[in-house]
Amino acid sequence: MATKITLEEREIPRKWYNIVADMPNKPGPPLNPVTLEPAKPEDLSAIFPMALIEQEVSGERWIDIPEKVLEILTLWRPSPLYRAHRLEEALDTPCHIYYKYEGVSPAGSHKLNTSVPQAYYNKEAGVRRLTTETGAGQWGTALALACNFVGLDCTVYMVKVSYEQKPYRKSQMAIYGAEVIPSPSPRTAAGRKVLAETPDSLGSLGIAISEAVEDAASHDDTNYALGSVLNHVMLHQTIIGLEAKEQFKKAGDYPDIVIGCFGGGSNFSGLALPFVLDKINGKDIRIIAAEPAACPTLTRGVFNYDFGDTAGLTPLLPMYTLGHDFVPAGIHAGGLRYHGAAPIASQLLRDGLIEAQAFTQLGVFEAACLFARAEGIVPAPESAHAIKCVLDEVDKCKEAGTSKTIVFNLSGHGLLDLGAYDAYFAGKLEDYQHPQELIEKALARLPKVPA
Ligand SMILES: Cc1ncc(COP(=O)(O)O)c(C=O)c1O
Repeated sequence: MATKITLEEREIPRKWYNIVADMPNKPGPPLNPVTLEPAKPEDLSAIFPMALIEQEVSGERWIDIPEKVLEILTLWRPSPLYRAHRLEEALDTPCHIYYKYEGVSPAGSHKLNTSVPQAYYNKEAGVRRLTTETGAGQWGTALALACNFVGLDCTVYMVKVSYEQKPYRKSQMAIYGAEVIPSPSPRTAAGRKVLAETPDSLGSLGIAISEAVEDAASHDDTNYALGSVLNHVMLHQTIIGLEAKEQFKKAGDYPDIVIGCFGGGSNFSGLALPFVLDKINGKDIRIIAAEPAACPTLTRGVFNYDFGDTAGLTPLLPMYTLGHDFVPAGIHAGGLRYHGAAPIASQLLRDGLIEAQAFTQLGVFEAACLFARAEGIVPAPESAHAIKCVLDEVDKCKEAGTSKTIVFNLSGHGLLDLGAYDAYFAGKLEDYQHPQELIEKALARLPKVPA
């Protein structure tokens, strides 16, 4: 049995899969935060190009990937599907464990799958500069590289705690030509407000999004790009799961369990959505989102309309949320510190088509090290949440005396996250469950618009 199941370049999927066409209950529309009416294309066009707005609201099942985008994607795609023989041996399990490895992208994670089309459509629309936020630094790196490929300027607001913990991410973004600003920053009204109230704020993705959106909305030649959550981002990431299904055909196998870590939902959805279609069509398959207990959006949040950012500049989205002004603890998986969740994944969770589990960080780092020692790849701390979930499912199989086929998304490598591993080895990391009273406080400030 092969270790790497690969596809030829010519086998790369040429269309993205839009699950909205097949969902039994469609996600509700984004709402204009002032009128509370469904947002109109004009509401979004201050910061997004029309091609992406069209994808955001599209009900078409299949959407063509432009040739120019495919050309760039083939720098690293199709990505390999690995059969984790050595991990199976280390765990002494009859389970078949597979992982789709997205760390082979030059940016180091799955994020380049959407930054490339987003940069492409903006360039086509005549935009000069893109702004964005980044948590772990992976999204900022991916957008910086995509902007460099298509010829756009790029400004990245980086969550301050990550900016300080991950200096080499800044270097990589600088190599690709981006400007990187620690957030909250004095550059925007949203940043200045947070700094006035909390001068030593660690920042959060919500705050950084407010800054990037404000910057884009106040400059005519500038648009904004979001690395997760929105429907068009989920769409672009489905290339992961579409490839994986072809690879499973080649392997003569099919998963019983599909797992992805969950921040805003893009790598999880990218792998999972093509399999959710099979589940909608009657396949008996479990699909699990693995989130941090320090930021338990899916397992302890509520389903409601909420802002995507902290300052309340974005349209309201129907999603599981911990409240838009929720500031999570500074856990090292910076990319999972987001208060909300993709409306598509939120609706699927509500409908029982996917499930969610939360994990504390010590177990996650232990799982990451076990994986690295067996398979060699140092996983991103975000991706390691999926690995911890896999190990728990293998344990459950052991107890039940069963064997399952499990696939997870190894969304990125952790070679620029070694500071977090050092902190783990030095005993500086603690398990943290976000306190219920803080969640309730944040939820009390939700917009009064049930989803
Ligand atoms: C490697 C990696 N995996 C996962 C995530 C979480 O984001 P999402 O849930 O959108 O995949 C991030 C976010 O920065 C990341 O860098």
